[in-house]
Amino acid sequence: MGSAAGELAKKVIIAIIGVAVMNERSIMTFFEAFGYQTVIRYVNRHRLQIHRITVPDIQKVRILSVSTLPALSPLTIGNVNIGFPVVQAALSGYSDLPMRVIARQHGASYSICEVMLDQFLLALSKRQKTKHFLDIHPTEHPVGGQLMGAEPEQFSLGALKLVEAGFDIIDVNFGCPVKKVLGRCRGGFHLSQPDVAIDILRRTRDIVPSEIPVTVKMRRGIDDSEESRDKFFKILDGAIDAGLAAATVHGRTVQQRYVGPSRWSFLSDVKKHTGSRLKILGSGDLFAAEDCLRMIHETGIDGVTVARGAIGNPWIFQQTRAIAEGLPKPAPPDLAEQSAVIRSHFELCVQTYQEQRAPLLMRKFCIKYSQCHPKHEEVRLDMTRMRTREDFERVIDKHYGENLPGRYIPREAHGSQEES
Ligand SMILES: Cc1cc2nc3c(=O)[nH]c(=O)nc-3n(C[C@H](O)[C@H](O)[C@H](O)COP(=O)(O)O)c2cc1C
Repeated sequence: MGSAAGELAKKVIIAIIGVAVMNERSIMTFFEAFGYQTVIRYVNRHRLQIHRITVPDIQKVRILSVSTLPALSPLTIGNVNIGFPVVQAALSGYSDLPMRVIARQHGASYSICEVMLDQFLLALSKRQKTKHFLDIHPTEHPVGGQLMGAEPEQFSLGALKLVEAGFDIIDVNFGCPVKKVLGRCRGGFHLSQPDVAIDILRRTRDIVPSEIPVTVKMRRGIDDSEESRDKFFKILDGAIDAGLAAATVHGRTVQQRYVGPSRWSFLSDVKKHTGSRLKILGSGDLFAAEDCLRMIHETGIDGVTVARGAIGNPWIFQQTRAIAEGLPKPAPPDLAEQSAVIRSHFELCVQTYQEQRAPLLMRKFCIKYSQCHPKHEEVRLDMTRMRTREDFERVIDKHYGENLPGRYIPREAHGSQEES
């Protein structure tokens, strides 16, 4: 490149940096005034890219990217610094120690344990084989413990068990839509009885040491009625008065379970209502890195919790971090990388549970990991038949021996799981 052309290119780059905070129209006007032609393309509703700039004398200039989005603010919950506001959601049957460790290794800045019953926690003894529910890996702090129950008094005692186990944040579950849970007046049922719900939050906040934040997980209501909405906001106000630090809101109703979309506009209403008095994390239909950023930018909430979209797909956290920094979205992991992560997940399972349980416990994760494989149908079938460590090794050797490119998990493959 000649020196005049070099000078011009420098000007272009300076101009781009200068206009990075402008909207797309002013960027185009700016370049047109200099006789430059720009091709701008939308990456999504909130990001745009100067795809090509044709500068007089130089012809085409490389693809340059400009983001119109403000940088994401780091998340804090009470006095706990979380950092990047995209975290691993609580997932019953999934977000155990191995899944949480893998999520953290791939960029999740916080994770929440699967929900536990207060009764279960109170009855738990150190010798029982179920004690692994309370295991925390030294590398995974901060980590949240979540609990669910019916009676305010028992509930708060259960919360103390989570504190003793070493969880950094205590999360109260008012979201579970499972029939037998609702039938026992737990989980999402509490959204129908604000006074009891608020009593639970108050007692839990009172008993948990003040340096440990208490948070709540809610669906947007029992159903779509006005009454249900009013109850939701009554509980939310009660949470603020009780001194809770954050609420995670799943934009579906309890009645809706997993049918139909999560209503993100409700999250905007919630954030407008609470302002800075309560941190709001969003949940529902976060299946790709772009979804996570879009939810934050569209609704103004403080962070998001990735649930089904992270099962067998810990890479979603790295991908979200990359595009949040304005970098290109990383390619899907190739098969060498996938098999390394699957093996490491398996070993964490062996360390957490008894060796013979690992293959069966890993099966549901492997089925989801298989979705990243180009021959996913074949791999999935072999994963469903896996019973022993030898089976596991055989399937990995057979399907991951040759290093092929992987694929992003398609949206429809995420939507099939439900709480049971
Ligand atoms: C299998 C499964 C288990 C879940 N377990 C929990 C849980 O233990 N605690 C909780 O607060 N939410 C739980 N959820 C709800 C998720 O955290 C999340 O709010 C919900 O899946 C919506 O997000 P998504 O559409 O991005 O998956 C569970 C969801 C699924 C599918």
